[in-house]
Amino acid sequence: MGKYRGLVGNPLQTLSLADLRRRTSEKWRRYPPDVLPLWVAEMDVPLAEPVARALTDAVALGDTGYPPDGTDYASALAGFARERWGWAPKIEHTRLVPDVMLGVVEMLKLVTGYGDAVVINPPVYPPFYDFLRGGDRRVVEAPLNAAYRLDPDALAAAFADAVAGGRRAAYLLCSPHNPTGTVHTADELAMVIELSDRYGVRVVVDEIHAPLIYPGVTFRPYLSMPGGERGLALFSASKAWNLAGVKAALAVAGPAAADDLARMPKVAGDGASHLGALAHTAALRYGGGWLDELLAGLDQNRRLLGDLLAEHLPQVRYRPPEGTYLTWLDCRDLALPVGDSSTPADPAQVFLERGRVALVSGPLFGTGGAGHARFNLATSPELVTEAVRRMAAALR
Ligand SMILES: Cc1ncc(COP(=O)(O)O)c(C=O)c1O
Repeated sequence: MGKYRGLVGNPLQTLSLADLRRRTSEKWRRYPPDVLPLWVAEMDVPLAEPVARALTDAVALGDTGYPPDGTDYASALAGFARERWGWAPKIEHTRLVPDVMLGVVEMLKLVTGYGDAVVINPPVYPPFYDFLRGGDRRVVEAPLNAAYRLDPDALAAAFADAVAGGRRAAYLLCSPHNPTGTVHTADELAMVIELSDRYGVRVVVDEIHAPLIYPGVTFRPYLSMPGGERGLALFSASKAWNLAGVKAALAVAGPAAADDLARMPKVAGDGASHLGALAHTAALRYGGGWLDELLAGLDQNRRLLGDLLAEHLPQVRYRPPEGTYLTWLDCRDLALPVGDSSTPADPAQVFLERGRVALVSGPLFGTGGAGHARFNLATSPELVTEAVRRMAAALR
């Protein structure tokens, strides 16, 4: 696993801007070429070599049929989880699914029905709202507190609301949290377990960002917690190894939820991609060295961003993320140019229109999002620097 370490160097410093602009993915095609795109959760990295090799070997062989089952991916996850987190899911308690969000929808169908409530913690990954509403679930918000951490009082109130009238309810927990980069502590997860048991709310945890944890921070898989046995979790290698275009994910059940997962219809997994599963399996088995190089580069970027903001945009409040390559910028103290509408200016809109840098607009993340923007750190230090220069110039 350590084989590739040191050979590649910082993957965030490998590709030139000219190379990146030749990409055809959403990040590079949404905006005109004069815009610096630091919005969607894609990374400006080449593929980890073992992942590229798994894909090119499969293509050379024409090995592009249906995936056999998810056990290779699941055993790769078990090995990675044991090594990084000291815990491993049981392979027989996992199912291959096409991607994390489709897996979330299927898992919520197992534990809730039409019109039931699902609790989420805004500001949060915008598709949580879209998929819940599209799946005819009622969204109940339990906002994070001002320090971007889970708020026990808000959660208790949301759970009480969610189960009112004796209805079934679920809690969709984002762990680590997108967009703030919060990594929930063992104490916070224990609080979630206590409250969800007390109110009878089923917990579904999205752990897609789990491999992306900074030094000094500990990630605890929800299902590894005492009392987490009734939980359902989703995992994918797609964020940490930049594989959104080669999708796959695993639905994982705690031992006491294995019967629930067994009820997931076979068709729920049929959309999974064989190439995706091969790529994700290679990432987890052989991509650990590359991941460590990436994390070192991201760690440098999260500190660089703090220094640059302090120098050029000191009114922006920034808490370096504990995990993920996403950061949440509190721009409420910025003197933004006033538009012609009566609504407060959206910082992302101002940075885009006047600075030609694309971040994600805060209000999309729900309650608490106004006046904020999400900045994606997964690029070179040069482009992080250029982005802040453009953001500062936008306000002059
Ligand atoms: C928290 C979270 N969940 C899910 C996804 C999307 O995962 P997938 O493409 O596997 O559905 C993302 C993508 O950024 C994410 O941040």
